[in-house]
This record gives sequence, C-alpha cells and structure tokens, in this order.
Amino acid sequence: MIKNICLAAVAFMLAFFPADARRTPKTAPAPVVKPEVSPCIIPVETDGTQLLLAADREGTLRIVHYGAKVADPDSFLGYRFGMGIRYGEGPMAYPTAGGLEHGQTALHVKYADGTHNTELCYVSHGKKLDGNVCETSVLLKDYVTNLEVKLIYTAYLKEDVIQARAEILNGGKSVLELLEYASSCLDLLSDKYLLTHFHGDWAYEMQVDRELLTHDTKVIESRRGVQTTSHKNPSFLLSLSTSEFREDEGEVVAGALEWSGNFRLSFQQDESGHLRVLSGISPYASAWKLKAGESFVTPAMLYTWSDKGGGGASRNLHRWARNYGVYGGAKIKPTLLNSWEGAYFSFTTETLLRMIDDAAAMGLEMFVLDDGWFGNEFPRDNDRAGLGDWDLNRSKIPEGIDYLASYAHSKGLKFGIWIEPEMVNPASVLAREHPEWIVKAPGRENYQIRNQWILDLSNPKVQDFVFGVFDRTMSQSPSIDYVKWDCNRSVASFGSDFLGADQDRFYVSYIQGLYKVMERVRQKYPDTLIQCCSGGGSRVDYGSLAWCDEFWTSDNTDAVSRIRIQYGSSLIYPACVMASHVSAVPNHQTGDVTSLKFRFDMACAGRLGMELQPRNMSADERAFAARCIESYKQFRDLVYTGDLYRLASPYDGDYYALMYVSEDRSRAVVFTYCLRYRNRSQATHTFRLKGLDPDRLYKVTELNADAPCWRGDGQCFSGSFLEGGGFNPELLKPRSSAVFLLEAR
Ligand code: GLA
Repeated sequence: MIKNICLAAVAFMLAFFPADARRTPKTAPAPVVKPEVSPCIIPVETDGTQLLLAADREGTLRIVHYGAKVADPDSFLGYRFGMGIRYGEGPMAYPTAGGLEHGQTALHVKYADGTHNTELCYVSHGKKLDGNVCETSVLLKDYVTNLEVKLIYTAYLKEDVIQARAEILNGGKSVLELLEYASSCLDLLSDKYLLTHFHGDWAYEMQVDRELLTHDTKVIESRRGVQTTSHKNPSFLLSLSTSEFREDEGEVVAGALEWSGNFRLSFQQDESGHLRVLSGISPYASAWKLKAGESFVTPAMLYTWSDKGGGGASRNLHRWARNYGVYGGAKIKPTLLNSWEGAYFSFTTETLLRMIDDAAAMGLEMFVLDDGWFGNEFPRDNDRAGLGDWDLNRSKIPEGIDYLASYAHSKGLKFGIWIEPEMVNPASVLAREHPEWIVKAPGRENYQIRNQWILDLSNPKVQDFVFGVFDRTMSQSPSIDYVKWDCNRSVASFGSDFLGADQDRFYVSYIQGLYKVMERVRQKYPDTLIQCCSGGGSRVDYGSLAWCDEFWTSDNTDAVSRIRIQYGSSLIYPACVMASHVSAVPNHQTGDVTSLKFRFDMACAGRLGMELQPRNMSADERAFAARCIESYKQFRDLVYTGDLYRLASPYDGDYYALMYVSEDRSRAVVFTYCLRYRNRSQATHTFRLKGLDPDRLYKVTELNADAPCWRGDGQCFSGSFLEGGGFNPELLKPRSSAVFLLEAR
C-alpha cells in the first residue's frame, strides 16, 4: 500500500514538474534595484525648434515634444501621455527590447547568457556650445548589465536641424550582440501622419510616394548593400494633421540618414496615436558583436521641423547641407561637358580634344573624361572588361591623361576623370591576381551585375587598393580637378574572405571601409571636386555627401523624366549637389524628343552640364547653348545658395515650377515648365511667386528666349503683385518652358 502511494507520488511529480524544476533549486539572484532618478527635462533647441527629453523617477527617458518652442519646457515634468505608458508603450527616447517594451525597438541586445532584456536608465547629461552648434549628450545605462548608450543630439541653431546618433558601449564583462542598433528614435503625436517617401529604380530615382499612415508599422528598408538609393532613399517627410501634402503651410518633420549602406526607417503608430519613427542601419544580416569595453557609434540621423510646410522643411535641410552636410558646401562648380553619352567607350585622343574645343567654344568650364580610358590586357572597350585595371589604355590615348588635361587647361577648362574603384570585371588582371578580394559566397555562384563583381571593402587591403586607384589616377596629371566616383552594382550573395566566421559584419564594415578610404582621399586631396555617382542616383545620401561635392542625379538625362526626379530630390537635397546635363535627342534612355531650350531650362535648375557629342549639334544649336550657358553663369549663385520655393508640383497639375531667391531677397530666378496640353480656354496658369519682398520692385527678364512669353518682360513689378497677382507666362504647349530673372530695383 505504502509502496503504491510512493509510486503514485513519483508519477505525479514527473507529470507535473518539468525536469528543470525538479533539480535542486538554485537561489535566484535578487533583482537589482533600479536607481531612483530626480526627474528632469533636457531641452535640445535650435533657433526655431525644440526637442524635449524627459527623465522620470524610474530613469526612463522619453521624448515629450518636437516642434515649435515652448517657453516653459519644465511644464512637461510629470506629463501623462495616456494609460499606455504603464503597459510599456509611450514616447521613448531610445526604446530597447526588454522591460515593458512591446513596440519596435531602437536597440535589441542579446547577451552572452542568451538573454534579451535591456532597460536603459538615465544617468546624466551635458551640453557643449560652439557658435552655431550645440551638442547635448545623454548617458543611459542598463541597470543590470552595465550596457551604456550615449544619445548625442547636435543642434544646428540657425538651420533648425538636429542630428541624432547613438554610441553603444559594452560596459559588461562578456561579449554581447547588437541585433538592432538604430541611430535614433523620434516620437510624434498628431491626429494624422502623411508620409512622403521615395521609390524608384535605375534611371527613375526619387519618385514620390505619399500615404496616410495607419496603425502598426510601415518600413522602408534597403538590403542592397551598396547602390542603396535608386529604389528608395533613406529620407522622408511627415506632414502632420493633414491628409494632403502642403508645400507652404502646416507642420512637417523631415528626416535623412547619413549612411550609404543598408538602412531601415520604420514608422509605427500605436493605439494611443503616437508615431514612433526609428531610423538607422538595417539590422538585416548585420548583428554586431561588442566585446567587453568595445563601443559602436551609429551613423547620424538628421531631423528638421517646420510649420511652413514641405517647402520650409526642405529649405532647412538645404541650408544645413550647404553649411555643414556637403563636402564642398555651395562652392560654385564648373559647368561641364561629360564624354559619356557623346562618345561612350569609343574615342581617341582626337575625339576628346575636339570635345574639349567644342566645350570651350560654348563657354563650358570643364571637360570630364568618363568611362573607357583604361585597361590594356583587358581594354575597357565595353562594360564587359577592364574594371580593376586602372592603367591608361595606351592605344586609345597614347599621349596620356596629362596631355589631355593640360590641353583642357590651356583652353581655360578644368579637367575631370571617371573611376569605379570598388568594382572588378571577371575579365581583368585584378580578378586573376586577387580573387580573395572579391565579394562572394563560398561554393555558390558569384552573380555578375553589369558584368562585374564587387570588391570587399571590409578588407583593409582592399581599402588600400581603392585609395590607390584614386591616388594613381590623380598622379597621372597635376591638372585633374574633378573625379567622378562611380559604383555600378549592388551586393548579392555576399561573402567576405577577410571576415571569416564574422560575416555579420560585412554590410556595415563595407561602408565603414568606404568612408575610411574617403577620409584618406580627402586628407590628400582636399580641393579635388568629387562627384558621387552610382549608376546615376544610387548613392544619393548625406553619408556620401560628407565626402563629395555633388551627386549624379540619374542616368536618365531626358528632361521630361528629370522633372519628377529633380522635384523628388529637391525635397531633401539642395540644388547645388544635383548634377543635371543637357543631352541629345532622341534621348538615349527614353527616346523622347524635347527642344534644346526645354532641356537647358531643366538642367539649369541644378548644376548645369552637357553630355552629348557637340559635333552633332547644328551651328544654331551651339549658339543657343552658348547663350544658355552664359545666362546660367549670371544666376547660378541663386541656384547654389538661394532658398528654394516650389511653385507647382509635377504630381498635382499641368505644370512644374520652382524658384530660388537670394538670402537678401534682392534677386530670384524662376523656372516654369508646361507638362500637358492646355486648351485655349485655360491657356494661361497663374504662378504665385514666393519668398520675395512684397514692398520691393523687381525687374522681370525672361532668359533664353527671343519671343518673351510673359507680357511683363523687361518691366518692374512689386513683390506683392508677383506673389499675389497674376504672374502668368503663356506656356501653352507640353514641354514648353520659361526662365525669368528677377532683380530688385
Ligand atoms: C554609370 C554612370 C554613367 C556612366 C557609366 C559609365 O552608369 O551613371 O554616368 O558614367 O556608368 O560606364
């Protein structure tokens, strides 16, 4: 009987207590007590905006406000954001996986013991002011593992731009893994969020998508490794409390990530209506290990806020870009003739000398020798060979690069040259000699894109090689003024010989490697103009612009296609970095035929260049080109440094129009384009100009036209009339355009 009872008891124990629970119980560690914190408000301010962070008694750091300045920020102390906070939601400054958090997280750490909990508590904060720039850093610490996060907010006072990044330090004793490590988190509260973001493709970049966000998460992510921006862009605008994009009024928050690799932007609207915006490196295949004492610094995320609509937000970003974000700022760059669409791979010294002559005759200021100048064993006569072998092709240009560059200089032109140093064709000496430098997954097909492979920039030896390509190219002539740095494929089936078992580092290390090379390049060549190109606009981001002077906006040079590409780009990036070229018709990408005037009027709204064979132009066309180039030189300072006002969006009607106004409002240049046929009864459209001084008189002069299309050509009008009255040039035909210079009397 007793025996039976004992057996039954054992059976019961086995059935109801799992193996772990039956072992001798360990004493569970006593929970660490969270340190108590004195609540405080930490303001991050620019001249016109305020981001307020609040630490509560439990040490949780929240974002409590981003927008117009409030006079008494401390009033936010103890502010309640709804019941949700008790359950883990709420406007966190840097939400982490663990604790009460259930939403998308900025930081997700896996510790050596396999646990995933991080709860950051406020420790301290400090500020450093240096003229126009004020840096606020806030130190947070996980109260159990000693992981530290420093949130760094750099405020650019006059530009109303705040740059946010995080520094994550493993303060524990064992290695840990960062599974997600966003640059920053922003929390907004509004009744509606209209998201503007970008989609596209090769030759179709920066197309605008707009959507009203609903609950849960919208993600914009690139996993292409490099060439990350043709299909999307690491930037956005959020119009608040509206379902329509408003150019001139209403609150808009815009953001842009300073990173050229995989990125992820996420927008999560929770049940309380808060929008959590997370931005940073995409965590895709990129867990980052930190040993004890090691740290990781994320790329920076830029934000601006404006109550002057999308236009106000763009102008803030543009001003920041000109003053801080773009390597050469708004320094005037030469107008140029690029050899690509005019000669492609087939040229001789003679072809190039004649192009230089023609460029000089039209008044252009630089000649750029594009692809095709290198490779001997594997001559670069098409895109199937030669990449990687950066020695001059002696049969095409026996006289050498210096001969060409000096010739250009003797004609008063600067000289530029193309390289694509991160890439290699299978048909090259480099591929034969250094297979270990090529990105490839062992045992798998190494896919070619545009007949090429990509070099493994996570490897310091490859970084040396890539720097060497730039350096050797420059050493060919002291007269090289400009380098077009191209990058014509993305990553596929990745694998790095160098990284061995640590393949998770590849995507991030590649871009860090690229930036290390760019840093060396800039140390040695601080004054060389660098264009960042990637099959057109696949490296259009503020990470690249920190090293480069401009980007090649798109391989699509068709003026009609450029309308949407340049409009989209203008939402985030300033005109001074937007290279825009007049090419031949029928256009080589689209087959479209537009007038030379329309093509010039479009290209003149950015950094003007030409990309065609001038010998194929008639004498009249060359004379007209010379006239347009001349007039561009008169107003390009406005394009480079003026404030942009978009007057008509190509997404909303029959016109696209924009203007640039000088800071003192004494001069402006207005570009107007007709997109569709207007029947006679609605033949003229009134553009309301913007940004002028209503009380000043402006002389209006139409440029690049023999028969003016506005009745007031050459006359003076008040700013108030031009803004509120009837500036209505007759643009009746599709693909007709007009450009006007406004000068205050
Ligand atoms: C890329 C660039 C072009 C041109 C070609 C040359 O496509 O975007 O402008 O330089 O490469 O191969």
